[in-house]
Amino acid sequence: MNFYGRDFLTLLDYTPEEIAYLIDLAAELKAKKKAGIAHDTLRGKNIALIFEKTSTRTRCSFEVAANDLGMCSTYLDPSASQIGKKESIADTARVLSGMFDGIEYRGFGQEIVEELAKYSSVPVWNGLTNEYHPTQILADFLTIKEHFGKLRGLNFVYMGDARYNMGNSLMIGCAKMGLNFTACAPAKYFPDEALIEKCREFASVSGATLTFTENVDEAVKGADVIYTDIWVSMGEPAQVWEQRINELLPYQVNKATMDKTGKATIFMHCLPSYHDHKTVIGKEIGEKFGLDALEVTDEVFESEASVVFKEAENRMHTIKAVMAATLTK
Ligand code: CP
Ligand code: NVA
Repeated sequence: MNFYGRDFLTLLDYTPEEIAYLIDLAAELKAKKKAGIAHDTLRGKNIALIFEKTSTRTRCSFEVAANDLGMCSTYLDPSASQIGKKESIADTARVLSGMFDGIEYRGFGQEIVEELAKYSSVPVWNGLTNEYHPTQILADFLTIKEHFGKLRGLNFVYMGDARYNMGNSLMIGCAKMGLNFTACAPAKYFPDEALIEKCREFASVSGATLTFTENVDEAVKGADVIYTDIWVSMGEPAQVWEQRINELLPYQVNKATMDKTGKATIFMHCLPSYHDHKTVIGKEIGEKFGLDALEVTDEVFESEASVVFKEAENRMHTIKAVMAATLTK
């Protein structure tokens, strides 16, 4: 397996064996970190972090992981740099390639990170686009593996808007790694048909099943994992909240949902989450529509079944694995 010099833009570009390797490498690096064993094998290297959307987990993961590996990181906020306004992505890629050993990009269309990678001579890592969030899936799968001891054969249910970055990437990951994937939402929120077709091919190799249903009872029966994400993603206009709430409220993850699985199901969420009124948006939208919580209730979020903070920590270990693999000869 050769990762050196490669971009990490979408899981579509990685084989199941390569994905498994990255998850195992993350577990190894996590064990080293916990044992206090230094792993600063990339000393002297530098990475650039471009964030056109806000972030807590992804930014901190890249910065802490870079530091643990012995690298320096530079954070670029587009409002305080030339990117996009005065300098094209292609020019930015060539400028940064001359100074840095790797570039992380978070932003809008997938074509932007693809363009950056095309013109960059160093690895480019996707820190989230509208279409994909591949580093998140590595963290999710590491968390699932830690909990169940395996990935293959587990029943994974995604509730809510499955046609955006999280739904797409989780479907690809499950199809490749042999988890039975169910998207549960109104049909208009199912992933794009062309992507589903690709995933059917991966699933035919891995043995995974892919199910798309509007029926909550059917979807969650036998689920090992119930996963959800916010209903309005970064970059989407606030006006869509009303329609999303009307259409997705039946797909909220609450105690009744968890009780229907008949199994010791875990709850997962990429975060951030609107599970109470302790955020500006959670409060504003919650009060406007008379809801205590949006995509998941506080009761489930705070329950024993919830592994969301382990998942968040694993962002750092898995991002470290991606950087270590793609920057090590
Ligand atoms: N899950 C995730 O990507 O979180 P941030 O937006 O905080 O980076
Ligand atoms: N779908 C969410 C994921 C956040 C990690 C968004 O794009 O805002």
